[in-house]
Amino acid sequence: MSQNKVIIANWKMNPQSLSLSEGIFDGILKLTKKSRGVDIIVCPPFPFLSIIKKSKSKNIYLGAQDVFEEPSGSYTGEISAKMLTSLKVKYVIIGHSERRKLGETNQIINKKIINALKSKLLPILCVGETSRDNNGFYLATVKQQLVECLDQVPKNKMKNIIIAYEPVWAIGSFAKREATKEEFIEMQIFIKKIISDLYGLNVANTVRIVYGGSVHPENAKEFIESGASGLLVGRDSLDPVKFGKIVENSK
Ligand code: PGA
Repeated sequence: MSQNKVIIANWKMNPQSLSLSEGIFDGILKLTKKSRGVDIIVCPPFPFLSIIKKSKSKNIYLGAQDVFEEPSGSYTGEISAKMLTSLKVKYVIIGHSERRKLGETNQIINKKIINALKSKLLPILCVGETSRDNNGFYLATVKQQLVECLDQVPKNKMKNIIIAYEPVWAIGSFAKREATKEEFIEMQIFIKKIISDLYGLNVANTVRIVYGGSVHPENAKEFIESGASGLLVGRDSLDPVKFGKIVENSK
């Protein structure tokens, strides 16, 4: 697994047509050409996953925004891990807060992670509290998410997982405010401590933790310099110019 920084583009339920998504993807390809040292993971909506199959760029990978927890069967409307790998999808975002809001529990997320790993999909596990408090209860929330979502995940699979710390209060156009680098640094140490308790110091030292939530070209460098292994970008990943700058500033 390369130690390149990873910049993840989460397009969410955007854009509204195949031709628009091709346009954004072409723009990203063009504007990130010189991004050696950075791995880019583009996560379009399911119907547009085929666009990136054609990409010859070595450091651009395809990611999905979700996967179902069962390998196959009668589950109308769901997408299996094998369907994704057959489209050359390499990564999958699991447990994004917008999915948790729709009812996804830590237990469901755990099943999705185990199932994805079995099919050799690399999970990007999202954790993050909905609000902060002065007593540190938000730390307990993130601890519970990690412990329950990683239940039964063996130590040797941890190198295949990226953890995305995404404070819910800093995500999207309704974000209360942006997270500071100090808030990220504190959580990064805390996550490593949990991983160390679960898997030992070696895994904690090598686990990749990316930051997500209102990342833009101006704050990208700050989070990278604070030790983030990469960034998870929502809104600004739909704008190739802004996304290109984020990638440039993360080198
Ligand atoms: P945002 O979204 O960059 O638009 O805040 C991030 C995310 O939800 O992953």
